[in-house]
Amino acid sequence: MLDKLLYIETFGCQMNVNDSERIVSMLADLGYAPTNEPSAADMILLNTCSVRGGAEEKVYRRLANLRIYKRDGKQQIIAVGGCVAQQEGEELLRKLPYLDLVIGTHNLHLLPDMVRGAERGERRSETTFIDNDQRLDLFPSIKGESRLSRFVTVMQGCDNFCSYCIVPFVRGREISRRSADILHEVRQLAHEGVREVILLGQNVNSYGLKSDNEPTFADLIRQVADVDGIQRIRFTTSHPKDMSDELIACFGDVPKLSGQMHLPAQSGSDSVLKAMGRGYTRDSYLDKVHKLRAIRPDMVFTGDIIVGFPGESPADFEQTLSLMEEVRYIDLFSFVYSPRPGTRAADLADDLPRAEKMARLDRLMDLQRRITREISHTYIGSTMSVLVEGEGKLPGQVSGKGDIGRIVNFSGDSSLIGRFVDVRITKAYPNSLLGEL
Ligand code: 5AD
Ligand code: SF4
Repeated sequence: MLDKLLYIETFGCQMNVNDSERIVSMLADLGYAPTNEPSAADMILLNTCSVRGGAEEKVYRRLANLRIYKRDGKQQIIAVGGCVAQQEGEELLRKLPYLDLVIGTHNLHLLPDMVRGAERGERRSETTFIDNDQRLDLFPSIKGESRLSRFVTVMQGCDNFCSYCIVPFVRGREISRRSADILHEVRQLAHEGVREVILLGQNVNSYGLKSDNEPTFADLIRQVADVDGIQRIRFTTSHPKDMSDELIACFGDVPKLSGQMHLPAQSGSDSVLKAMGRGYTRDSYLDKVHKLRAIRPDMVFTGDIIVGFPGESPADFEQTLSLMEEVRYIDLFSFVYSPRPGTRAADLADDLPRAEKMARLDRLMDLQRRITREISHTYIGSTMSVLVEGEGKLPGQVSGKGDIGRIVNFSGDSSLIGRFVDVRITKAYPNSLLGEL
């Protein structure tokens, strides 16, 4: 019986979104139903992100705001999960007397036990990383509402230690899920009506490389493509240095593989890439982009760029802009560099004035808006295969995603939901396309 209410707020990346879904499904077994109303909740959980600065402060501020409900004398469990929990651990319990649970990124399987303890008034923090032998605990399947497109976690953690990045410290080393379990889950999802899977991990290209008896990521994709019912496959995130020829070849002979790829460059300057410890040069990055486009001429890329990394000169920044012009990303996520404690780059002088960083970010975003607009307009008049996922923006419209990952709205009734249909694009907006069946 669901006789208690759970309120979750999720910050950061898709990994956290997935973990939150898993928390909802695990705590349903303890009688908790999700709510959007924190004041009514018996348990409040913040699933946090620390990839950029100010994360801890944000969590403290948000908790201070939320705990007013607990002060009304209500029995309410307050919990922090995700990357800030992993980073701060016990310290959070010490600093915040009203906090009950701190749950690290590798410890979700302990949550039911922790919540039962908290219901009896016990406070607890669990942030131990687990190792490869216990890895089954890291990757349970998520029971969720049925949807047409679902994320499937294939690995977690990162061994790259890019000099600016906190992820290896808060998500741990790379651990791959067993391919048998992944395929079992994909088959199950296909059976439930899922048509698209998005294979998820911090660094999917190095999937399986640590075990002798697991396929490579390219082989895994081929195996997933063999599952009946699955019609489209995407994956994220790829590290350019690990984008193998074998994986590139998949884009030529696995038609189910989407022609959109997230391939973060971070910078277009060799000296900045070196200082970031990215393990590739501007040329070798572009080489992969060109190889992919040779195999799939309509391939579209999205990317991440960090602006204002320590030592980024005006000339380095120009190199980033010119990389953007060469790749022509359809969408770009851009971030001002933010020093993270414990990372190598935190020791570098971060002496570029804030105003200069913001001016660079503005220029970059202006350029990207222009490129996005230009690319979007090239789709007008073309036909796209769209997986219809739900109602559209306006009454009488339905909406879905084309192979390139853009949202497409068009007139049609809800009987189309769940099908792949051909849609001719008639208009391009900054964040979506308009079309007709
Ligand atoms: N400062 C700014 N941006 C960062 N990212 C990761 N770490 C930092 C940092 N310290 C960005 C990278 C990464 C994305 C998820 O967040 O671009 O690809
Ligand atoms: Fe962070 Fe680099 Fe690993 Fe990506 S590859 S998660 S940027 S350390």
